[in-house]
Amino acid sequence: MRHLLDDLHAPHAALLRAALALASPPGARLAVDIGCGPGLKAGWLAERLAPGGLLVGVDIDRAALAEAARLRPGAWVVGDARDLPMADRCAGLGWCVAALDLFGSPDLALSEARRVLGPGGTLVVASAAQLWARPRPWPAGLVAAWAERAPPPPADGLGDHLAESLLAAGFAGVYLRAYLLDPPGRGLAGAALPLAGWDWLAARLDGLLAPADLAACAAAEAEAEPEPLAVLLVAAGSVA
Ligand SMILES: C[S@@+](CC[C@H](N)C(=O)[O-])C[C@H]1O[C@@H](n2cnc3c(N)ncnc32)[C@H](O)[C@@H]1O
Repeated sequence: MRHLLDDLHAPHAALLRAALALASPPGARLAVDIGCGPGLKAGWLAERLAPGGLLVGVDIDRAALAEAARLRPGAWVVGDARDLPMADRCAGLGWCVAALDLFGSPDLALSEARRVLGPGGTLVVASAAQLWARPRPWPAGLVAAWAERAPPPPADGLGDHLAESLLAAGFAGVYLRAYLLDPPGRGLAGAALPLAGWDWLAARLDGLLAPADLAACAAAEAEAEPEPLAVLLVAAGSVA
């Protein structure tokens, strides 16, 4: 089965890479890519390692691991995400990209990820899907005012199922962002902004918008209607 995230190599690769980096603290001595496939994202994960750190990729598919080993250095290990072949508390950072919903039991896989991450470790999960969402047609003034800021969180409970799964697996400090995949090329803030709510944004604008733009934003919030859209969810949780 072709996964929607396969299509992110192009033209959405830059967005995915930036969104994963933003959610991932640097400096892990051991990072694990769970469901790494042929290691196409593992090179990005390696950039978050401390100097001399070790990259481990785990996948159930031997052929994909052989391809990963051909492409880059790392420890490429055959294993099931529901029973990771790794010691307790050995890793500082874990990624699970376009894979969690393929594991048969995502909750078991999250518990396993929690088990292998040490104190202060972080798990980052990325998933893309068609989701019902309410894109806000924000005025240009808001888009410009937010362009250099960090991406805001989504409104309307979008992605809450993923955040709740991380909490249920014992992760703390759960972080969630949602990005519209189309049109591509907007950058993190531009792709997240249409999915954010006006109340959240208005409380953080620090008087940046003219009164006409404020009125247009309130109207955009009221006008937004649900529609099925390609959305990238990136959630992260840490081990206390
Ligand atoms: C869509 S691919 C994503 C690969 C990679 N993370 C990426 O983004 O390019 C999903 C991967 O999950 C792996 N997978 C599926 N079930 C698994 C399981 N139970 N344990 C480990 N890996 C599994 C598949 O073999 C496949 O390589």
